[in-house]
Amino acid sequence: MANKRTRSDGRVLPGRLPGKVAAPRSARRNLRPSLGEPPPSTRPDQQSKILARLRAAEETLRAIQSGEVDALMVSGRRGDQVVSLKGGELAYRMLVEAMSEGAATLSRNGVLLYCNRRFAELICRPQEKLIGMAVQSLVTKTERSRLEVFLADAQKAVVKSEFNLLRRDKRLVPVNLSLNRFPGRKGYALSMVITDLTEQKRRHVEDTRLQLAAIVESSQDAIIGKSLDAKIVSWNPGAEEIYGYTPEEAIGQPISILLPPERADEWPAIMERVRRGQKVEHYETKRLRKDGTVIDVSLAVSPIKTAEGETVGASAVSRDITDRKQAAEIKQAQAMRQLLLERVLTAQEEERRRIARELHDESGQLLTSVLVGLRTLEDSRKLSDVKAQGNRLREITAQALDEIGRLARGLHPTVLDDHGLGVAVSRYVSEYTKTHNIAVDLKLNELNFDDLPSAIQMGLYRIVQEALTNVARHSGAKTVSIKFTRSATALEVAIIDDGCGFDAKAVAVSSHRLGIQSMKERAAMLGGTVTFLSRRRGTKILVRAPLAKQELKHPAEPRNT
Ligand SMILES: Nc1ncnc2c1ncn2[C@@H]1O[C@H](COP(=O)(O)OP(=O)(O)O)[C@@H](O)[C@H]1O
Ligand SMILES: [Mg+2]
Repeated sequence: MANKRTRSDGRVLPGRLPGKVAAPRSARRNLRPSLGEPPPSTRPDQQSKILARLRAAEETLRAIQSGEVDALMVSGRRGDQVVSLKGGELAYRMLVEAMSEGAATLSRNGVLLYCNRRFAELICRPQEKLIGMAVQSLVTKTERSRLEVFLADAQKAVVKSEFNLLRRDKRLVPVNLSLNRFPGRKGYALSMVITDLTEQKRRHVEDTRLQLAAIVESSQDAIIGKSLDAKIVSWNPGAEEIYGYTPEEAIGQPISILLPPERADEWPAIMERVRRGQKVEHYETKRLRKDGTVIDVSLAVSPIKTAEGETVGASAVSRDITDRKQAAEIKQAQAMRQLLLERVLTAQEEERRRIARELHDESGQLLTSVLVGLRTLEDSRKLSDVKAQGNRLREITAQALDEIGRLARGLHPTVLDDHGLGVAVSRYVSEYTKTHNIAVDLKLNELNFDDLPSAIQMGLYRIVQEALTNVARHSGAKTVSIKFTRSATALEVAIIDDGCGFDAKAVAVSSHRLGIQSMKERAAMLGGTVTFLSRRRGTKILVRAPLAKQELKHPAEPRNT
């Protein structure tokens, strides 16, 4: 007959007991008298077997007496049976002690009357010290009032809820608490089962982490992790696609490898905000690819924080918006061109009307005078009258010629064809100074423009003309300087006024203003650029036209006069 000893820690010890020990309590009282020397008739091998069994029985009894064993598992004809040695309650206590979940009983107001070892282990506190403590003291202040409500609810029904219990070392253990009412000595008490959720939460966190990692991996946006000293610590495939570096090349490098030189000071400012725990919302900027090309990106930066809220790095999400930006720019340029075309057509119409008016009012009048004068001449009898009339008619005709010449010059600056850009600008400037009373410091730097294609000369002339007109119309400037510089590859003109300045960026997107737009268009047609730098103290316009060698005329080439 096999017997097992069951210890109060719930473990069952195997052992061999004589049949009588396994008998009910009343029978066990008879156990002691049977212990003694074997009868002298027994054979020696049987004797040693009996002795061994006796020793086992003695050991078991000693354990029972010393309280090491609370109950016995007895295998008999009726199968395995647990026999409690200290009354019926003990069996339940053993069960509770053996549970893998925490268990406790509480008074109605939350004082711990009993708790099992698992519960004590869970919150790293000695089991005996927990008895008498209020369960409310085992949660943080933030959860205390919720726990009170929970205890009150438990007086009516079985309740379950998640809490964080405070360990002795002040760390928190996430648990599920289940409270149930049961009748006690004074009214009723509460039983509480505590399930540790640490592993479940850890798994949840791990699952979430894996999901997030999958999102980062499959994102088309570049998602880059950085340490607080602005080194790259993580690099997703999106980043590789956009910036061209492999993770091996990028990780460990300073983030500045992605910054175009003119934006080098952008990161310190961003990192400063991140260190303060602030986000940088999406904004448009430029970044440098591995191959050296600069791309337009939309960038957002957020601090990376630990569970304790300490900022340990930053994550940056960037999207390549070069195509989108280019498309938007093309669309804007197209709209602008359309507008310009419409303007040109209207301007043409207006110009024709003006010419018609001027021809009619000025030259027409003068020629009419000539016609009338000629008729008077026909009727004159006296030679002196004819002479006087002839004189007057010559003057009127000269005046008419002047008028027509002025009209023609306005339509097309022939001086450009005849004498080139330098002379044309000089003449325009001297008339401009007289008309607007603005001093112009023109520095042609003795440049020779003879070899420039007429398209470049005409383009630059018109740009200078528009810039000067704007100075006169809008700036209130007293002086303007115009400086021409020429290198082997480009011709540059800087037009600087000391006027009121303006918001060049705002004007650039305005569709109503066409002067600046047409300056840009003209420069673009020459393959060049116009840059506007404007502050309150004035405006600087920089025009740059590239000079391709093959396009330059031979200086000796005759002008088409
Ligand atoms: N040199 C300048 N100084 C101050 N403001 C200027 C200057 N050039 C241009 N502007 C501003 O830019 C605007 C746009 O100029 P522009 O495109 O030539 O249109 P418009 O001359 O028909 O107003 C002007 O209305 C003016 O406010
Ligand atoms: Mg203008």
